[in-house]
Amino acid sequence: MVIREEVLAAIARVCDSQGFILGPEVEGLEHEIAALTGAVAAVGCASGTEALWLALVAAGVKPGDAVITTAFSFFASASAIVRAGATPVFVDVDAGTLNLDAALVERRLQTTSARGVRAILPVHLYGQCADMDAFDRIGQQFGVAIVEDAAQAIGAAWNGRGAGSLGSTAAFSFYPTKNLSAYGDAGIVTTMHPEMGEHMRQLRNHGSPRRYYHHEFGWNGRMDGIQAAVLRVKLQRIAEWNRLRQQHAATYDRLFAESGLMSNANAPVGLLARSPQATHVFHQYVIRAQRRDELRQFLAERKIGSEVYYPLPLHLQPVFAYLELREGDLPVAEQAARDVLALPMFPELRDEEIRRVVDGVASFYS
Ligand SMILES: Cc1ncc(COP(=O)(O)O)c(C=O)c1O
Repeated sequence: MVIREEVLAAIARVCDSQGFILGPEVEGLEHEIAALTGAVAAVGCASGTEALWLALVAAGVKPGDAVITTAFSFFASASAIVRAGATPVFVDVDAGTLNLDAALVERRLQTTSARGVRAILPVHLYGQCADMDAFDRIGQQFGVAIVEDAAQAIGAAWNGRGAGSLGSTAAFSFYPTKNLSAYGDAGIVTTMHPEMGEHMRQLRNHGSPRRYYHHEFGWNGRMDGIQAAVLRVKLQRIAEWNRLRQQHAATYDRLFAESGLMSNANAPVGLLARSPQATHVFHQYVIRAQRRDELRQFLAERKIGSEVYYPLPLHLQPVFAYLELREGDLPVAEQAARDVLALPMFPELRDEEIRRVVDGVASFYS
């Protein structure tokens, strides 16, 4: 396979140069990701989780602050807030897109309980941007920073502007299952503010602007040269891979529409809403399914893989019991946790495989 040879050659280059940590490959990747997203700076780091922490701290989040985020995301969206010393404020999601509900966020900011909110962290769930027009306006109106969790959204856009250039700072993950994936852990932060870029560059390297001189408490959050070299090879294909994902999503949409599984409000299957402003990159193709767990088992018996992102919303995770939120508090996220199901989605997927998945879902409900 051509890409395998290219990747191995890129890894060999790093081994020959011994530039294992940061170095020219990381710098090259940073320039290329800044160009792709439209951000003014990009800073390579150790993981998407690390990227979220850097993005929050650079955006001004300090111990004792509060940060509003979605209750329906991967754990790191919230744990990074805690690691920055702040308290997550979980708000429910929009019933159509399952992205953070901007109207509820605005209402929250209008109440006294929103005092101390320094930032809002919308997640571009499954590869579709949250309503960034609304968050931009809300951010300006209430004087809070917008930090994008773009971990699932490399190449996505809102009104034609790239994810990663829509807030103060943004975090991407290159975890091996992501649309753009490393050969291990890696992430990157982007920003529209050069000074925040410099701050994140120091924070990822022990808060050190100069070797062995430390101005603040940073951490070792650096990216490996080998990961950057691998990512640079794959980055050349990301537009094509995202286009193929969009094509497969359109095929799923069409086959589900033809299947009769979505014919009325009580139909067993539903699709998520697509925002017209969003260029969706389909990190996941997710349906809402009645008797979801039985369906999943049925598909597994037919060798059709599926996954649940996410089975327990963040506000009900045991580790967040101290926030004293209960079942029923964020009902849209809770319902989503009961009925979302991600179906096979990757660039090499074939039309006949998509048909087999949809036929499998249809035979479960027939
Ligand atoms: C929405 C979201 N945020 C953050 C992360 C954390 O990224 P990483 O696994 O690279 O630390 C992920 C992915 O795992 C994610 O999906």
